[in-house]
Amino acid sequence: STGTYEFIKTSTPKDGVGLVTLNRPKALNALSSPLFKELNQALKDFSADESIGALVITGSEKAFAAGADIKEMKDLSLADAYGKDFIEMWSDLTTFLKKPLITAVNGYALGGGCELAMMGDILYCSTTATFGQPEIKLGVIPGAGGSQRLTAAIGKSRAMELILTGDTFTGKQAGEWGLAAKVFETPAECLDGALSTAAKIASFSQLAVKAAKEVVNKSQDLGIREGVEFERRVFHSLFGSKDQKIGMEAFAAKKKPEWTHE
Ligand code: HXC
Repeated sequence: STGTYEFIKTSTPKDGVGLVTLNRPKALNALSSPLFKELNQALKDFSADESIGALVITGSEKAFAAGADIKEMKDLSLADAYGKDFIEMWSDLTTFLKKPLITAVNGYALGGGCELAMMGDILYCSTTATFGQPEIKLGVIPGAGGSQRLTAAIGKSRAMELILTGDTFTGKQAGEWGLAAKVFETPAECLDGALSTAAKIASFSQLAVKAAKEVVNKSQDLGIREGVEFERRVFHSLFGSKDQKIGMEAFAAKKKPEWTHE
């Protein structure tokens, strides 16, 4: 999974963990179409790699990503944007990616950067993080899920205020409001924390992990009753896996399970 890229770097810093580092430092990791193509390709390669159980996306200490590339967008016409489904592919990762994704956010996460951070399954940040949806200041609105995911994460009144004013909020606030699962003191601790959590997830049965991600995500789309029924069906289906036998037999025998991911 280590293709050669211009705007990102990929690595496998821990067992079972794929890391994508956004790497367009001069533009504060502004998300251009070429960058997003590379990001999607890297995530697809990690998806296909059976040795990888969980993924992390991070940026630099200064910027996770300062938004969609404004210089790329500024001359687009309606036909360019609507007609060619501009940024539709940005959301692809939320459907094709079945392995858990942690976003580790330091520095600016603005506009499309904030939206990318929220596309992950778990968001970690440091106190250095600055989040916001400043699109209103550019005469537009969030376009890659910000109005939906921010509202789901922090509630309507706060999300509305942030999206209508373009005001930023801090990493500490992201933690207090439940957008971030953990807030770390420093960028290094944030990335370390994300990699450790990813490694922990990667140490479990990939089948169970995939099912767990699927059922939690379903809670966003289904009512409680249908969601609980869906969960029970998926739970039942895991009794057809070897990993269920391995996990429960290991517990009964006081041993460590050796997953086969089958
Ligand atoms: C293109 C960007 C950029 C962006 C920064 N740069 N953000 N280029 N698109 N989103 C470039 C700058 O032009 C500059 O290039 C270089 O990165 C460094 O940025 P500075 O502004 O000089 O840095 P600083 O003074 O530290 O200010 C940092 C900043 C500011 C506060 C983050 O850059 C900023 O406000 N950026 C725009 C944030 C924003 O509005 N994001 C939302 C975009 S709209 P040069 O060549 O001058 O060195 C969006 C739509 C999403 O994301 C909906 C669809 C996906």
